[in-house]
Amino acid sequence: MRFMNEPTTGDQPELFRRKNDPTSAPEIDLGRASIARVYDMFFEEGKDGFAVDRVVYEQVRQIAPDGPLVAVMIRRWLDRAIGYLVSRAGINQIIDIGSGLPRSAPHENTHQIAQRSNPEAMVVYVDNDPSVAAFGRALLEDNVYTHFVQQDLVHPQVVLQDPAVQQHIDFDRPITLVQSATLHHVDDDQDPVRIMRQYVEVLPPGSYVVLCHWWDPDDELPEGHELARSLENAWRTSSMGTGRYRSRGEIEAMFCGLPLLSPGLVELDQWWPPGPEVTPPTLIERLMLGGVARVP
Ligand SMILES: C[S@@+](CC[C@H](N)C(=O)[O-])C[C@H]1O[C@@H](n2cnc3c(N)ncnc32)[C@H](O)[C@@H]1O
Repeated sequence: MRFMNEPTTGDQPELFRRKNDPTSAPEIDLGRASIARVYDMFFEEGKDGFAVDRVVYEQVRQIAPDGPLVAVMIRRWLDRAIGYLVSRAGINQIIDIGSGLPRSAPHENTHQIAQRSNPEAMVVYVDNDPSVAAFGRALLEDNVYTHFVQQDLVHPQVVLQDPAVQQHIDFDRPITLVQSATLHHVDDDQDPVRIMRQYVEVLPPGSYVVLCHWWDPDDELPEGHELARSLENAWRTSSMGTGRYRSRGEIEAMFCGLPLLSPGLVELDQWWPPGPEVTPPTLIERLMLGGVARVP
């Protein structure tokens, strides 16, 4: 493992001690927080990240102490969406873009969710983060039906032409494309709708797009709008430098006109919950919309 910049405090967390091959490991910039590592810290079972990640984590938690609830809510939603598409809609190949660091119990990774009902469901994970590549590859490439590709999602043609994607995904059969909590890290000048259009264009009929994104509810929820603005400011002024809370219309546009399955683009816990609400959502949990669309 090669490191740029020295960490300000602390040793290498366990995350990076596990793999120690200086010839093949990617370069990790310790002067800059990584969303993959910061996000991981929001899970109880997550790792410590580096000092630079902890600074961002603490800044966000100061504004929104309930932040960890969002991470867990995202995985709950992903579990329901992927579970449904594999078990009910019969999808057996998934490209999970911006897959993140591998999850462990009580949460499951996309391939574990998919392979619960179809052990041969093929999952190709894509992430550009060297931490995910270093640690995730080994755990995500769990069996012959799971593969990891280190690519930048803002270049769909490169992602789609990657040899692993080409080898393991059959573009003549329906595919599920997952963009879970990724595109809010893509700036406006990179045009996330244009990026999504390039992915959607190659999806065969009967495919699905699963997407969730930070939401600025504006007048729909004025106190949520204020919190979204504060959070966006915290993320963007951090060493990570990315993070956009977008409007409902901006998020909907990322489905590129594909029809959304019922119940549409909704707060995540409203997407086919398994039962009645246990407690009302906290404000930060409401700042995320997700949906599943089908390619006709
Ligand atoms: C908040 S995490 C979400 C992880 C997972 N999709 C989930 O919903 O639990 C965002 C992930 O997207 C990845 N990501 C962000 N920008 C990316 C890019 N340009 N190309 C590839 N991956 C990216 C990050 O490295 C990180 O792992």
